[in-house]
Amino acid sequence: MGNGLSVIAIPQWYREWTLKYGKRGFIAASKTWDRTQDAADLSGRVHIVTGSNAGIGFEAAKELARRKGIVHMLCRNAERGEAARAEIAKETGNQQVFLHVVDVASIKSVRDFAQSFMKTNQKVDMLVNNAGILVTDRENSVDGIESCLAVALGGTYLLTGLLLPALEAAAAGNSHTGRGIPAVVVNVTSAGMYLAKADVSDLQMTKRKDYDGFLQYCRVKRAQVLHICAYGSPEYWSAQMLLHTYIHTHGHTHGNT
Ligand SMILES: NC(=O)c1ccc[n+]([C@@H]2O[C@H](COP(=O)([O-])OP(=O)(O)OC[C@H]3O[C@@H](n4cnc5c(N)ncnc54)[C@H](OP(=O)(O)O)[C@@H]3O)[C@@H](O)[C@H]2O)c1
Repeated sequence: MGNGLSVIAIPQWYREWTLKYGKRGFIAASKTWDRTQDAADLSGRVHIVTGSNAGIGFEAAKELARRKGIVHMLCRNAERGEAARAEIAKETGNQQVFLHVVDVASIKSVRDFAQSFMKTNQKVDMLVNNAGILVTDRENSVDGIESCLAVALGGTYLLTGLLLPALEAAAAGNSHTGRGIPAVVVNVTSAGMYLAKADVSDLQMTKRKDYDGFLQYCRVKRAQVLHICAYGSPEYWSAQMLLHTYIHTHGHTHGNT
């Protein structure tokens, strides 16, 4: 408890991790999925994935593109972003993959993107808030906010809020067509959320003598989920699994607008 991590939660977390996460968890969970949906056609559907030049975000963007969806990749670095966009376009043959240079930790960058995107009058069927970081030493965003918090909570929820009309437009459009598919917001959190309680009295971890990047990550990821619950999705517990579920089963099934 001394370092802020729960000693009771650590063994529970280890058990959950071995059973439900990683390759083993993925293989186990995938056995229950309806694979007939693997080829779902996402033509005409609009997806935004933050932090999509690497890791989970890259794979999610690629899978969405493979299924013919329109994909907007939000990446903070133009060079890395364009390399990833080009790779996805080449590999999937989908030319409707677009790069937007956006630093999710920057309020101005997020606002600028949302403003220009909303001017295009596009709906958004799915927003994947994937961008996230875990740093060892304290870093602050351009706005002076602790960086882990700035990405996972600040920019993420600012972006979601600013895009809500486009998400609602997608949901309304889908109900008109009788497809009954809601717009979806996926927030990629972490099992680290089980290890520490969110500390709303010290969101930027300035009250502790030393900055602890891992503890801050766990707290922020937990706060991310608490925020989602506030959006009305209490069944939400692991965005990684939701993302896999989304990609490998129904196309659009979980989440909330
Ligand atoms: N991998 C895991 O085991 C694991 C477990 C639990 C949860 N997660 C969560 O899953 C998400 C993705 O993780 P990952 O493992 O795929 O990490 P990753 O390989 O490090 O990829 C993170 C992506 O986010 C981008 N990013 C970081 N800060 C950003 C910002 N301010 N604005 C825009 N993009 C930003 C990175 O861009 P750059 O290339 O420019 O840095 C990169 O594209 C994160 O939210 C993470 O917390 C991962």
